Amino acid sequence: MNYSALIQNRKSVREFSDKYVSFADMDVIKAYFNKARRLVPELKTELRLFGLDTRAVLEGAAGYKQFLVGAPQYMVLLSEKGPQFEENAGYLMEDLILKLTEMGLDTCWLTFTDSEYVKSALEIESELEVAAIAAFGYGVKTTKRLRLNFLSMKNVDDAAKRRYMEPKRSVSELVSLDSWGNRQGIEEYIGFYDDMLWEALYAVSQAPSYLNRQAYGFVLHGGQISLISTPDEHTLEIDARLSLGIALLHFTAVAENWAGKLQWRFGGEAAKLELPEGYAVVATCAL
Ligand SMILES: Cc1cc2nc3c(=O)[nH]c(=O)nc-3n(C[C@H](O)[C@H](O)[C@H](O)COP(=O)(O)O)c2cc1C
Repeated sequence: MNYSALIQNRKSVREFSDKYVSFADMDVIKAYFNKARRLVPELKTELRLFGLDTRAVLEGAAGYKQFLVGAPQYMVLLSEKGPQFEENAGYLMEDLILKLTEMGLDTCWLTFTDSEYVKSALEIESELEVAAIAAFGYGVKTTKRLRLNFLSMKNVDDAAKRRYMEPKRSVSELVSLDSWGNRQGIEEYIGFYDDMLWEALYAVSQAPSYLNRQAYGFVLHGGQISLISTPDEHTLEIDARLSLGIALLHFTAVAENWAGKLQWRFGGEAAKLELPEGYAVVATCAL
């Protein structure tokens, strides 16, 4: 897949036509799932696809407050619980979402808070947890690009009505050199990798994130890159971790074109990178 192009094409779509995705395409999605990228491949995962009547059942169980995205299809990722299972779910589901983008389908991530509630609403019998949900189908063509941006859950409806658009953070706002917040020398450092590193970081700047909060950043240090989580009072832990997994997928999928296979190590010392209180090293890899 041409990840850079797909990442630039993807956007959250919240208005869908009634057209159903064909059985043949559903099979393509299921087959792709088996070979999709995983951050923690040992974790057991399952993909369930839902069609007809799911919207009514999911109402109240998923989506920003009072704003379930009505779509003809939904996909639910189930996962074994274990270290980094939420990040793995974000990573894996986003890879699927980009596959759907390649297939000409539109998507929207959906938040949820209670795995058991979703499982019983959808009559899912499994030992695995609900780890990620997305709506998909054929979006209604609109002239305005509907990108929601909100400061808190209570602003969601208003923001949706206004179809408020806000740009995402730029690469230079997302990246520091050697220690958190240091921007000096960044351009030269990124320039050393020609446009390649910039392209991978740009792919992260375009990533979907819960409430478009982009509660993360990167520190480049000694030939390595670390993803840092930044505290965000508006984001629940599951959504924060899914968003971090998505950011890692965007970076990895694009960077691997030139850097070869990237091996992320989870965790790391906050003090070394001079992270402020509440910030944490999510994962580090050598470039
Ligand atoms: C974990 C997660 C949960 C999300 N939940 C919802 C949701 O419930 N409803 C919704 O409309 N959008 C949801 N989104 C989509 C974000 O609002 C969207 O990614 C963000 O506003 C940026 O817009 P974009 O995806 O078009 O780039 C979610 C995104 C993530 C990553």
